[in-house]
Amino acid sequence: MRTQTQQNETVKSAPKRKSSSDVKNLDDLFEHALKDIYYAEKKILKSLPKMIKAAHDEELKEGLENHRQETEGHVSKLEQVFSIMGKAPKAVKCEAIDGILTEAEEVLQDFGKSKACDAAIIFSGQAVEHYEITRYGSMHAWATSLGMDDAAEILESILEEEKAADHKLTDLAESRINFAAEEGEEAAGDVEE
Ligand SMILES: [Fe+2]
Ligand SMILES: [Fe+2]
Repeated sequence: MRTQTQQNETVKSAPKRKSSSDVKNLDDLFEHALKDIYYAEKKILKSLPKMIKAAHDEELKEGLENHRQETEGHVSKLEQVFSIMGKAPKAVKCEAIDGILTEAEEVLQDFGKSKACDAAIIFSGQAVEHYEITRYGSMHAWATSLGMDDAAEILESILEEEKAADHKLTDLAESRINFAAEEGEEAAGDVEE
């Protein structure tokens, strides 16, 4: 009969089987992130026309349309990154962007007919841009670290466009759109208790 000590030794000396998650590395994480942001960009592309249609301020409308075209470019650029990796483009569901875009639709339903409509569009648009900036920031750093210079360059070019889109929205909000939204509240006299 085996003693308790012998049993413990048996357990300790048994070779540890690696689960599939143990063997995953930065390459796998990068590929996951690429599929995730590919899904996100396609969803953003579908949601932007609604925002453009709802916007009142001409410069905001133009800025969003310009970024819609850039977003089409982001989808193609991500396909180039897939190609560099020798993989077919594939999307995986990203709960984060689904949540941001669902909220954006709800905010637009609530404020779309108010004077704060454009401020609400900027509010949601900046949530999208900041999400993209975090993802592209990580992915650019990972591509650099993995020695994928061509992919890193593509990701950096997208990152710069996301940052510029975010700055443009900040400028519009702070130069006039927030003031216009405030005036609207006073004019309507609709103070929520
Ligand atoms: Fe994008
Ligand atoms: Fe964007």
